[in-house]
Amino acid sequence: MIDHHTVERILDSADITEVVQEFVTLRKRGVNYLGLCPFHNEKTPSFTVSPSKGIFKCFGCGKGGNAVNFIMEHEHLSYPEALRFLARKYNIEVAERKLSEEEKERKSDRESMLVVTSWAARKFGHYLFDTDEGRAVGLSYFTERGFRRDILEKFDIGYSPERSDTLTADAAKEGYNIDYLVKTGLTIERDSRKFDRFYGRVIFPIHSLSGQVLGFGGRILSADAKAAKYLNSPESEIYHKGKILYGIYQARRAIIKEDKCFLVEGYTDVLSVHESGTENVVASSGTALTPEQARLVKRFTPNITILFDGDEAGLKAALRGIDIVLEEGMNVRIVVLPPGEDPDSLAKKSSVEEFRSYIEANEKDFIRFKTELLLKEAKDDPVRRAEAINDIVRSIAIIPEQISRTVFIKECSNLLQINESVLFNEVSKLRSRRQFQTRNRYPEAGDVAKTAAPQPQPKPRELRGPAYYSERELIRLLLKYGSHEFDREIIGEEEDEDGEQPTAVITVADFIVREVTSDELTFTDKLMASFFEEYLFHVDQGLFPGDQHFVRHTDPAITRTAVDMLADSHELSDLWSKKGTHIDTEDTLLCQVVSQSVLKFKSDKIKEMRNELLKKIGEADSRDDIQSVIAMQKEVSTLNNALHEISKHLGGRIVL
Ligand code: CTP
Ligand code: MN
Repeated sequence: MIDHHTVERILDSADITEVVQEFVTLRKRGVNYLGLCPFHNEKTPSFTVSPSKGIFKCFGCGKGGNAVNFIMEHEHLSYPEALRFLARKYNIEVAERKLSEEEKERKSDRESMLVVTSWAARKFGHYLFDTDEGRAVGLSYFTERGFRRDILEKFDIGYSPERSDTLTADAAKEGYNIDYLVKTGLTIERDSRKFDRFYGRVIFPIHSLSGQVLGFGGRILSADAKAAKYLNSPESEIYHKGKILYGIYQARRAIIKEDKCFLVEGYTDVLSVHESGTENVVASSGTALTPEQARLVKRFTPNITILFDGDEAGLKAALRGIDIVLEEGMNVRIVVLPPGEDPDSLAKKSSVEEFRSYIEANEKDFIRFKTELLLKEAKDDPVRRAEAINDIVRSIAIIPEQISRTVFIKECSNLLQINESVLFNEVSKLRSRRQFQTRNRYPEAGDVAKTAAPQPQPKPRELRGPAYYSERELIRLLLKYGSHEFDREIIGEEEDEDGEQPTAVITVADFIVREVTSDELTFTDKLMASFFEEYLFHVDQGLFPGDQHFVRHTDPAITRTAVDMLADSHELSDLWSKKGTHIDTEDTLLCQVVSQSVLKFKSDKIKEMRNELLKKIGEADSRDDIQSVIAMQKEVSTLNNALHEISKHLGGRIVL
């Protein structure tokens, strides 16, 4: 956890205009800036940045927030990741919050491992580029295979020398705890002898989404048939092979930009394809794609294209991968490479244009791909043909989304010359059976929502209580005008000699807080309630939390709502702008607006209570205590009277 003061410092330094300008061209428009929204497609700019409020807001798609929210949204990062991103941009050292002993142990273990892996990656790079052996053996290997230096550097490629304890010895010399080299698998301990796992190999570091080194792959250089071609880091607290994709860190931006991700098999495929100009490429590192890996891609794009070698093993792996991707509701396409080629060799022998046009010409959606492949295998054998059709239908049944299933059923029907309704029935049958199986076997399998990227969902209107709008209006007034003072008529006091009502100066915050708390009223909407609670907490200490307090809040729901309230282009709420046209600004009418808003809030609260009582009375049957029903009826009539009083004030004395 990043400690509170550091968060404050990051937020203080992160100038919203500067942060946004790195990604969006902004033009000054009055006190604000205007540009084309990066979150939806638009031709006329509706994306505004307000430097004074520290927020951005798109009036086209509704996205809005502070600098951290912008980075989260734009770079697809979590809150702490976005904070670290900004800390790096503004050279702020990140101090971490104090952790419990147990948290500390687990965390410091992980962190020490990450310290060691990133040190090792640097060291491997040093061996490759700065030592005679590295240059003669490792670098010349890459040069012979045609890899450019800038690509090797971009992927932190390295070399582990022949002497089998080079890295371990250097670690000891430089004061690193060898336990962590063992834990990350860099060092192997056998009979009290310690040696490097990767000695005599070129090294491919595997990065996390945010660029930390999680593990390594090491390729042997000789054609020694006995030794494994690749060695990989073992599974550890920081490295889970099935959860990461090789190259995702370097491909991230291009994937978002192209709205598409290419999936290849190996490390060298990623490097070559990247080098040939297609940067949105990642590798599953030789194993079958996992659901976690598919979801990792889905954070950036729903479109995935699998490139694979035309050999038997490649085809089988691709078929498995297709179903995994379909199950995540993604669009999957396939490119089969020419016989004997892999993405690396094809990219190497073609120009950038040739490589691109090969992919464009050979990209097929999965139905076409499977149909062609399976029917070719089946030839004229009717039994095998039926099996093939079943296999295709099974893939369609996996797709979570109904509309896509329908589209694919249509295509399948065309390709196979089978009646659509027959296919439709087969898919339905499979789906009902499948749902039964998944429920029993993998309770978490259907739970995509939990792991998918969080999507800010606006609350559906009908879930909001009737008092929502008046609750929100009070919070908005607190945020915007909490510290403003106004002359408040002291209702209930005698008029003075001149027939004037006596007044007292009071802040908006004190007034609203007093009115709400003295009547023991509460906010029904959860979010508004938490706003108010937090506001109270500060007011109790004599502070007015201004709008920035909420705009910079750690709870994204609060930030979003605060931004929406502040981004309101008109100064008057709808309630007030409907009446009277001569009103200039809210400020001049603060007294009226605040009193009326409080009254409206109170009347909504009373209506809530009354409706609750009426419901109870309606549900009561004769066996219920008659006394309590009578009591409730009495209460209803008291509330009705109060409502009547308030409506006199609302419509009468303080008229706008
Ligand atoms: N792989 C592995 N262990 C092996 C062989 C392969 O982990 N013994 C993984 C590696 O991630 C490798 C991928 O499977 O990148 C694909 O294997 P392969 O095609 O054999 O290797 P390439 O990456 O294509 O390497 P090269 O081009 O150097 O042959
Ligand atoms: Mn290969």
